Amino acid sequence: MTFENAVETAEFISSRYGRKPKIAVVLGSGLGEFAEGLENAVSIPYDEIPHFSRSTVEGHAGQLVLGEIDGIPIAVQQGRFHYYEGYDMQQVMFPARVFGRMGIESLILTNAAGSLKPVMSPGTLMLITDHINMMGINPLRGPNDERFGPRFPDMSQVYDRELQEMANTSADEIAKERFDAGDDAEHKDFLHRGVYCALSGPTYETPTEIRLYRNLGADAVGMSTVPEAIAARHQGLRVLGISCITNYGAGMLDEPINHAEVMETGARVASLFKELLRRTIVKISAA
Ligand code: HPA
Repeated sequence: MTFENAVETAEFISSRYGRKPKIAVVLGSGLGEFAEGLENAVSIPYDEIPHFSRSTVEGHAGQLVLGEIDGIPIAVQQGRFHYYEGYDMQQVMFPARVFGRMGIESLILTNAAGSLKPVMSPGTLMLITDHINMMGINPLRGPNDERFGPRFPDMSQVYDRELQEMANTSADEIAKERFDAGDDAEHKDFLHRGVYCALSGPTYETPTEIRLYRNLGADAVGMSTVPEAIAARHQGLRVLGISCITNYGAGMLDEPINHAEVMETGARVASLFKELLRRTIVKISAA
């Protein structure tokens, strides 16, 4: 996947949509519903987009949706390419590179993740403050094209502090409106903060691995996001990461983890998640 490929794909996408989004969102497993709420939307299936791969995982639609939220144009990836599906890292990070060529300035990466902290329960969200790349590969390995970015990119602040602040403020507003008074008061701290550890998958972890990652400083585990975050930072995009906590890490409860549970929890928090995204996008756009 070359720089020219990314430019060609960006031009193709831009030719299908009249407005020029500055914000893009990648929706994780079980979180695809957000794309359905866009106004004046144009959907492009991945198999129509030059150089895009097809998304194969259950629970991912596999299309790019361009549309508006509160009048703000955004690009939304409904379904992403995971390393565990067998794609190489060039394919996994390609959409993030295309976003860079389209003039996207802020990329919001979302995912489903397992919690490593007892206080962070399934059905809550986690603002990603940093990551640990345990996928066993760096997506930028190989020849570097300086037109994307430098050979040795800085990763000291992958997840933009200002964007995190905007997400935090949005969560506070939602907590005030929805949960302050009512019976739901225990839900008001629904947005945690923490370190996301990316693993290659597709197996979930063993209990011993979960203890290991916890001891390394991780708060949540998942199988995505880090390749796109690295590709985006390489190009100088601002990145925001939000995990939907769908389960506790293996061994934390005396029960197995399954994909259906992961998808169900995503559906359960959909309305909260959509509202957090909407408010955050409005703040990013106004900044
Ligand atoms: N581990 C890895 N990836 C995940 C998990 C998990 O427990 N939950 C959702 N994605």
